[in-house]
Amino acid sequence: MRHWALAALFLAACHPQTKQLSYEGADKTTDAARIEHGKRLTYILDCRGCHGENLQGEDMSDKPEDGAIYSPNVTLLVSKYSDAQLDQLLRHGKPRDGREFWFMPVESFQFLSDEDFAALREYLRTLKPGGRPLPPFKFNAVEYKDVEQGILGNAQAQIRKYRDHPPADMGAQYAWGRYLAQTACSECHNNALQGWPNFTPSLDIAGAYSKPELTQLLTDGRGKMGKDVGPMSRVARRNFSHLTPREREAIVDYVLARANQPAKR
Ligand code: HEC
Ligand code: HEC
Repeated sequence: MRHWALAALFLAACHPQTKQLSYEGADKTTDAARIEHGKRLTYILDCRGCHGENLQGEDMSDKPEDGAIYSPNVTLLVSKYSDAQLDQLLRHGKPRDGREFWFMPVESFQFLSDEDFAALREYLRTLKPGGRPLPPFKFNAVEYKDVEQGILGNAQAQIRKYRDHPPADMGAQYAWGRYLAQTACSECHNNALQGWPNFTPSLDIAGAYSKPELTQLLTDGRGKMGKDVGPMSRVARRNFSHLTPREREAIVDYVLARANQPAKR
């Protein structure tokens, strides 16, 4: 046993290829380049989709009958967090006041590499406080039903679900695309990309797309035959127009491999 453990340690030391997968440019060495990388991640990871384009929080409701549903003002809150606390919040779902945490997709952010997380944190530190504090978050009726039925859990339950049931591993060739999809798509398409009842389709649907068509969707939101695919078109324009061409290709290759080789799942 002992010898095995020692041998494994020795091998790990000789082969530091255990480097974590990251978005392109996470390893930049200047502060300015890392901050720019972190800023790009706030689009791809949808921070701005929920907290508003200026990250000052906004009313997220889409139906008048739900009343206002606020996301908090990030620019007023980050300075209250130490670096370690920000990590606890964003990758572990634990806010500094210890309250139960809901709805923010920390279950997807838990997979962020140390380098991607550091760049994100460094960018958040550059935000100038602006706007006003907003009332606490509450669910709309549909999401509340999901909570009651146990389909949607609190941050800790979600983190466990996503960790224990990740998207299909299609092999080393697709590992990077899988990392990108796991952090950029699972927020809405669920832990294994199987889709979310009453919200999103399983990404098996990508099997109907050719590589150029899926690339197009993730570039400017145009779906098959140039069709607008509603909320997904908006998400693509807002978030995925910020992917680099290599990142987009890796996601497309992984999502297509997953959709077209169901036997491997
Ligand atoms: C799907 C919507 C959504 C996305 C995406 C999202 N957030 Fe949030 N965020 C929320 C909600 C809702 C809360 C409040 C949750 C609660 O109080 O239980 C919150 C809370 C926060 C807080 C405040 C924590 C506190 O002390 O109250 C910060 C800071 C924050 N988010 C930063 C981010 C960053 C950075 C990203 C992107 C990496 C992000 N959020 C992505 C919805 C979102
Ligand atoms: C913020 C939420 C959100 C995120 C993040 C998201 N999607 Fe979607 N996606 C949706 C919704 C909602 C639909 C259903 C749109 C409809 O049919 O009205 C959808 C539909 C789709 C479709 C089907 C389009 C069609 O032809 O009907 C594909 C393919 C897709 N998403 C791929 C992706 C990929 C790949 C990612 C990650 C790079 C991703 N999505 C991330 C919300 C999201």
